[in-house]
Amino acid sequence: MTSSHRCDAKSQTPGAKTPDPSGGLFGSIKMGWKVVFGTKRGATHQERIEAYYQSQASFYNESRKRILHGRKELWEQLPVPDDGVWIDFGGGTASNFEFLGESIGRLSKVTLVDLSDTMLKMAREHIARNAWDNVTAVKGDATCYEAPMQVDIITFSYALTMIPNWFDAIDNAFKLLKPGGRIGVVDFYVSRKYAKPFRQHSWLTRNLGMFGRDINNIFVSPDHLPYLAQRFETENLCETFGKFASLPLFRTPYYRFIGRKPMGEVARDDGPERAE
Ligand SMILES: C[S@@+](CC[C@H](N)C(=O)[O-])C[C@H]1O[C@@H](n2cnc3c(N)ncnc32)[C@H](O)[C@@H]1O
Repeated sequence: MTSSHRCDAKSQTPGAKTPDPSGGLFGSIKMGWKVVFGTKRGATHQERIEAYYQSQASFYNESRKRILHGRKELWEQLPVPDDGVWIDFGGGTASNFEFLGESIGRLSKVTLVDLSDTMLKMAREHIARNAWDNVTAVKGDATCYEAPMQVDIITFSYALTMIPNWFDAIDNAFKLLKPGGRIGVVDFYVSRKYAKPFRQHSWLTRNLGMFGRDINNIFVSPDHLPYLAQRFETENLCETFGKFASLPLFRTPYYRFIGRKPMGEVARDDGPERAE
């Protein structure tokens, strides 16, 4: 790990105080129920994802402002290279690109890759409304998406926890990035039982987080962060907690990670060997 810092301050997304359908205690419980127990039936990952987001589309953007923290901070921390190429895996509705403001125009090509047709429709509407003519939304799987050129920045915002074989998604990002290129990830997580050098979570936090795996398709994992730090040079790390809508006392742990692909790194593009 080259450099890292822990941001201990309790964090909440700026703008999260805007009134929305999930506001208030009752709204938060209702929304939390839909997020956790929303439809996710299907024979394949893609079918399950599509079923889930069809049921969430109407309230996705407003409700997620209250639970998906750290997205603005990540987007603002990533340096925007002139003429750069940026891929946002599991980009959803494309709303995160608003955090770049005018800087988005400095990029030559931005590609949002998502598996869900419902999310892609919303992304394309968002892109058209903002007249971002360097941004396209394409259907694809983050674990095997191929890009026509080397990439400067790859982001995953609350996407790794939705991808069952998330290690393939990280390996694919590593392969697509140019040496020195950056990966930015923000997501829920729990720590390992013995977490050093990362933040240690309590027994209760770790076990509540892992409980989520069996009741929904959100694969909260203790291994994302160690794997990211193993593959990339850590440039910035923040491990903290955010509110879950207006639920009192309840806080969800999340991290923001910015890492660089080591310069001259080619040989390890396929990642460390793993047992199948
Ligand atoms: C929780 S949403 C996050 C959306 C957006 N990044 C945000 O911050 O609001 C997760 C997204 O990942 C997408 N997704 C899930 N599995 C995927 C995969 N294998 N490849 C690409 N996208 C995927 C879902 O369709 C969904 O849009």
